[in-house]
Amino acid sequence: METDKKFYIKTFGCQMNEFDSERLIFLLKRNGFTQTENINSADVVIINTCSVRKKAENRLYGHIGNLKILKNNNPGIIICIGGCTAQNLKDKIQQDFPFVDIVFGTGSISRFLSILEKRLETGRIVCDTSGTEISSGNYFNTLFSSENLKTKKYNIPECNEINYLDASRSFRFKAFIPVTVGCNNFCSYCIVPYVRGKERSVNPSIILNKIKNLVESEGVVEVTLLGQNVNSYGLDFINRQYIDGDFGRFHKDINFAKLLESLAALKGLKRIRFMTSHPKDFSDELIRVISENKNICKHIHLPIQAGSDKILSLMNRKYLIKDYLLLYEKIKSAMPDCAITTDIIVGFPGEEEKDFAQTLETVQKLRFNRAFTFLYSPRRGTAAEKLKDEVLLTEKKKWFSELIRVQKRISLEENLLLRSKKLEVLVESNDIKQKGLLKGRLDNNNIVHFYSDNSEKMIGKFAFVKITEAKSFYLNGELTGK
Ligand code: SAH
Ligand code: SF4
Ligand code: F3S
Repeated sequence: METDKKFYIKTFGCQMNEFDSERLIFLLKRNGFTQTENINSADVVIINTCSVRKKAENRLYGHIGNLKILKNNNPGIIICIGGCTAQNLKDKIQQDFPFVDIVFGTGSISRFLSILEKRLETGRIVCDTSGTEISSGNYFNTLFSSENLKTKKYNIPECNEINYLDASRSFRFKAFIPVTVGCNNFCSYCIVPYVRGKERSVNPSIILNKIKNLVESEGVVEVTLLGQNVNSYGLDFINRQYIDGDFGRFHKDINFAKLLESLAALKGLKRIRFMTSHPKDFSDELIRVISENKNICKHIHLPIQAGSDKILSLMNRKYLIKDYLLLYEKIKSAMPDCAITTDIIVGFPGEEEKDFAQTLETVQKLRFNRAFTFLYSPRRGTAAEKLKDEVLLTEKKKWFSELIRVQKRISLEENLLLRSKKLEVLVESNDIKQKGLLKGRLDNNNIVHFYSDNSEKMIGKFAFVKITEAKSFYLNGELTGK
């Protein structure tokens, strides 16, 4: 599509949605579109939505009034609503907001240009939410047929999936790479399996080749592997034998640990991160691989969700608190400096004062580096929606504030332990307001602010800082030699 048109894109939600937007940006730019930060000058406006909690969903509705005014003022503008809310509420969006031109789902990104063309040709609203980007199983089995395995040749067939990882990047030196899409876990509160579909793993050779290329040709030094549950990577492949061709290794049983191990061997790839890990699938092999490889960051995001077995069972999390504690101990004894962060939901249906007390007690015992806390938000169509929910919102909010207060203190105390230490950061960005102020990240994902006279040149580089001050959610430091 030859064009001089401009697009504006706004993204809500998790890193998966961010990645989908990066794919869209890549696609549109490659086809001659220019990105604009000014919505009023755009020809195409894209809102990539999230529906994980009511609050996230409302962010679309917060914008919709403006979009209507925009369309009234400029009827030629194309308004596109995509992402998880579009997937979930496609009919409602079309009914309630007839000025919307395109509704597209989480599996329709690679088709976006033809969807746009269809809208321009027909002049009618286009709704496309039936696509899927990753097919895994069958494709994987063709690729690694016994014939290919015998000859140790793996010819990559023509398939959309090959382009799946093509995306623009917000940072030149770091990239996000989805390794699985969708989720099979059906935690009873969660909408994600309904809006992202069954779990499918991205072919390992596509992942490895992409990352190799990013490192060798594009100067990427850090990758974050993404998935709702990265630990179940590869379980959907029927034939799990695999040769990581360029890396020269044969794996009998590809899984997440082996994928990580292959990546860790890649020269020039300084930091490998991954999220999210479901505790039920975190293997000993994975702990070993993380601890043995210097370039796999010592940070694990391991959502606990609740500290009470009764609530964990109602949530369909498939582990008991004792299982979580055991895993936590194993990780800490293999890697004492490994940061562990978590997610917790407060006010789940059936949660009583004593259940919440157990959550609080567990948080005090485990001392997470950071916890992302959420008030339970009922989602239509999920199993938890049907559970009796008797505790008053005011009570839930009291628990919620208490949890935040306790965790904030723990995060601060854990950060205080880093004072006066000399640690390596990867410099990410400079402050727009304060000249010379830089933001970098430690291996354990902690953020450090520090000053440099040479700030522009340091972005994307590694530097040593001495930690001078600790706050709950970041550190201050000063530049130092090695
Ligand atoms: N797959 C990841 C992320 C899921 S969404 C995981 O398993 O952790 C991120 C977090 O949002 C979840 O961990 C959970 O704590 C929270 N969350 C999901 N659905 C929610 C709901 N209905 N109400 C409140 N919090 C929710
Ligand atoms: Fe949702 Fe659970 Fe899947 Fe995470 S693991 S996306 S919380 S269903
Ligand atoms: Fe939201 Fe969809 Fe992510 S619901 S959290 S954007 S998978």
